[in-house]
Amino acid sequence: MSEPHSDIGRKRQRTIYVAGVGGQRPAVPVGQAELEKAAQAAMTAEAWAYVAGGAGRESTMDANRAAFERWRIVPRVLRDVEKRDLSVELFDRRLPSPLLLCPVGVLGLVHRDADLAVAKAAAALHVPYIFSNQASVPMETCAAAMSDSPRWFQLYWSRSNELVASFVQRAEACGCSAIVLTLDTTMLGWRPRDLDLGSLPFMTGQGIAQYTSDPVFRAELGRANPPDEPRSSDGSSGTTRPTLNWQTIATALEQKANFPGGLLKNLTSGDPRGAVQRFMTTYSRPSLQWEDLKFLRQHTKLPILLKGVLHPDDAKKAVALGIDGLVVSNHGGRQIDGEIASLDALPAVAEAVNGKIPVLLDSGVRGGADVFKALALGATAVCLGRPYVYGLAVAGQPGVEEVIGNVLAEFDLTLGLAGCSSVKEVTQAALARL
Ligand code: FNR
Repeated sequence: MSEPHSDIGRKRQRTIYVAGVGGQRPAVPVGQAELEKAAQAAMTAEAWAYVAGGAGRESTMDANRAAFERWRIVPRVLRDVEKRDLSVELFDRRLPSPLLLCPVGVLGLVHRDADLAVAKAAAALHVPYIFSNQASVPMETCAAAMSDSPRWFQLYWSRSNELVASFVQRAEACGCSAIVLTLDTTMLGWRPRDLDLGSLPFMTGQGIAQYTSDPVFRAELGRANPPDEPRSSDGSSGTTRPTLNWQTIATALEQKANFPGGLLKNLTSGDPRGAVQRFMTTYSRPSLQWEDLKFLRQHTKLPILLKGVLHPDDAKKAVALGIDGLVVSNHGGRQIDGEIASLDALPAVAEAVNGKIPVLLDSGVRGGADVFKALALGATAVCLGRPYVYGLAVAGQPGVEEVIGNVLAEFDLTLGLAGCSSVKEVTQAALARL
């Protein structure tokens, strides 16, 4: 499987420069700043706020980038880097490169083909895709478009264990080869950009396709909310009622349009609104604790990774409990303002784990040189987040493919130019800290 990405850097440069001779420029900008600008232009204000925004003053997003900038690559010369092997081994599978796609929810906000476009792009580029629990397209539909290309499933632990078990069972059935349990979003972070617009996509029924396609969730729709649903200070249940006006009617219609079957079929049904309400009151479980992981272990034979681990003591605990992998992540700075950068947390987590289980990293990865730095600091593989979403916004599936291709090309060239012929050779000795 190492074939697909061999010499990808030079091949990609050649393609772009040869097209340039004929006056063609890449449809999706290669430069990160230009890519973001093009994506913003292609998105609504609400979509842009949701994707590009972070928690509080967004200092964690800045810290993620600053951490990458502090580490500098120190190349070695005269080492014959003509042939470079980008492949890595992960859970008994050889991957052609150390890159995966992060789970990103509500992609329907960004492009009508949403998760399906990303699934097809990931499969075309031989890069594993982690399906989001908050997807706009059910996992089975995405999996069916990926042939035997690797996919994982990311899980949010809801208040219903039955639903958790159902999601995991569906993930296994549609060929997912790992479960990534995200732990940093037991509550939604404080996100000023979304708050200022009064906009949360789930309220219009977006990003809940895994739920509305789930037999357990559908069966639960008619029932009362679970007993541990929090009640607000005035004693009412967590949801307050909006004022009735044209906007609320438009929202109700959007909920119906986003529910399976579409607007016309759901015009007279109360299910779409019920699904949104049910989702809002059950999607997360802040009371989750280490002990609960047993339940997940009992319900799947797949490797379980914990996403959002930043403290070395938590990493050690995960290893002791038989967890199969970690994703060092601060959710792209969307959850806690003033949080440690993922890359700054990585060395201590990698040391605590001591090679016993794979350690992946995301948050702030913007190009191939970042992939190199993360590997050098102890990551087994790296997950790409917002950049592929920007590619999706600009050009759908081909846009995602362009972005993935660019990151892989830059990684391949950086690897060789730094004097390494394989991922194994990428160690902290290749870096200097400013
Ligand atoms: C996310 N992320 C995320 N993570 C997760 O486990 N489940 C999810 O549904 C989502 N949804 C989501 C939506 C959007 C719009 C963004 C930007 C991110 C977090 C994601 O997996 C990853 O941790 C971050 O995207 C990494 O940060 P950067 O590199 O994208 O800045």
